[in-house]
Amino acid sequence: MKRNTLILAAGKSTRMKSKKSKVLHEILGKSALAYVVDLAHDIESDEIFVIVGPQEENIQLIFGEELNYVTQQQQLGTGDAVACAAPFLEEGTTLILYADVPCLCLDSLQKLYDFHEKKKNDLSILSVTIDNPHGYGRIVRDEFGVCAIVEHADATEEQCKIKEINSGILLMNTNDLKTYITELTPSNVQGELYLTDLVEIFRNEGLQVDAMCIEDEEEIVGINTRRQLAVATKVMQERINHYWMDNGVTLISPETIFIEESVEIEPDVVILPGTYLKGDTYVSTDCEIGPEVTLDSTFVGVGTHVLRSTVMQAEIGDNTRVGPYAYIRPNTVIGDNCRIGDFVEIKNSVIGSGTKVSHLTYVGDADLGEDINVGSGVVFVNYDGKLKQRSAIEDGAFIGCNTNIIAPLHVGKGAYIAAGTTLTEDVPGDSLAIGRSRVTIKSNWKEKSRE
Ligand code: UD1
Ligand code: CA
Repeated sequence: MKRNTLILAAGKSTRMKSKKSKVLHEILGKSALAYVVDLAHDIESDEIFVIVGPQEENIQLIFGEELNYVTQQQQLGTGDAVACAAPFLEEGTTLILYADVPCLCLDSLQKLYDFHEKKKNDLSILSVTIDNPHGYGRIVRDEFGVCAIVEHADATEEQCKIKEINSGILLMNTNDLKTYITELTPSNVQGELYLTDLVEIFRNEGLQVDAMCIEDEEEIVGINTRRQLAVATKVMQERINHYWMDNGVTLISPETIFIEESVEIEPDVVILPGTYLKGDTYVSTDCEIGPEVTLDSTFVGVGTHVLRSTVMQAEIGDNTRVGPYAYIRPNTVIGDNCRIGDFVEIKNSVIGSGTKVSHLTYVGDADLGEDINVGSGVVFVNYDGKLKQRSAIEDGAFIGCNTNIIAPLHVGKGAYIAAGTTLTEDVPGDSLAIGRSRVTIKSNWKEKSRE
């Protein structure tokens, strides 16, 4: 007895007005289809089939070999989509999920499986009661249970008043599905094969059909339009933010904070407004992040503050201050007790513990040791027009303001570089390097120049 899951993803996405399929549009960094595929895994499906349109080879490339793909050549309706996969289904149950319904919860699916088994149904429908059912298929009930789903376009005035709607999620006996899917006809207003017509067919055959109504209509929001995509994003944002608040994280003005599902945060972190945490970001306890910070796949150690800055694929140690207005680019490792100040850009570099890079500086392709002071306006000149080269500065060095360090270079332990130096040679430890043109003072110049 197999748990088959079909994910319908072959729709035309006309209303999204996009080059790509609506199911590949992202909600907090993850595509709608990826949310649904994850659900299919979480519900312990034995086989997952994704029904894709003929132009969707990229779906196959993105999701790889672990799923089965069935191409629906023509978009003849949800019934046709399921019919395309039917020959591949093995005995057991078949769950139908829509790839454009990404906010569904695992808990609801588990309840649907329990409902299906307990009630010994042949077909179970996940339904929701909503105030504005416009556009959805309506659940029509009689004294024996659910007798039909009527699409909005086909509904009578009386049926339009029904507020219990079809979420699209169905669970059924696979053998019955395979038998009756061939009986669908396009005799409806849209001229499509409606999967939902199975309800009436099952009932006429004396099979058991029922609907389980869930309360949270947010779970079934479809992303047919960009407006609905925004609604789904808000649902997901709130769900994730609530999770972190329930787990000891303070969010100030949570409606302005976006945290992707893949992020991890320890308790007693404070996140301030306008912050976006993305990818594999990890924030340790006692940090203060924000306002207006973007952290993308970044590790942040204990007690660090990041303020109005962008940090990408980097690692920051404990008790360090970053920002305001710092730009930390990929492959940067910053140690403990560091100070990275305003208008500092760091890329592909290591900044040792206790080192300060406080203002207006570019550090690219450099390895800085511990307890170094980098003055204001320093540039690590890492690119000669052809090659990127690395420089190394050893512990305790002092780099004066407005120094240019022309890579590749090595500055020894405790060395001093005088302000304004353009450094083109290695500097031994404990020495002073000074390289600037001498100043000439012409006294009484102003008076003389007027003569
Ligand atoms: C469908 C249901 C409706 C339900 C609503 C919930 C039918 C006939 N109607 O309507 O009862 O209330 O969902 O959101 O099922 N797709 C294909 N191939 C096709 C057509 C669609 O793969 O030929 C896929 C789409 O990509 C989408 C899903 O099936 O993921 C639903 O199709 P859509 O056209 O959006 O159905 P609705 O009109 O919203
Ligand atoms: Ca839809």
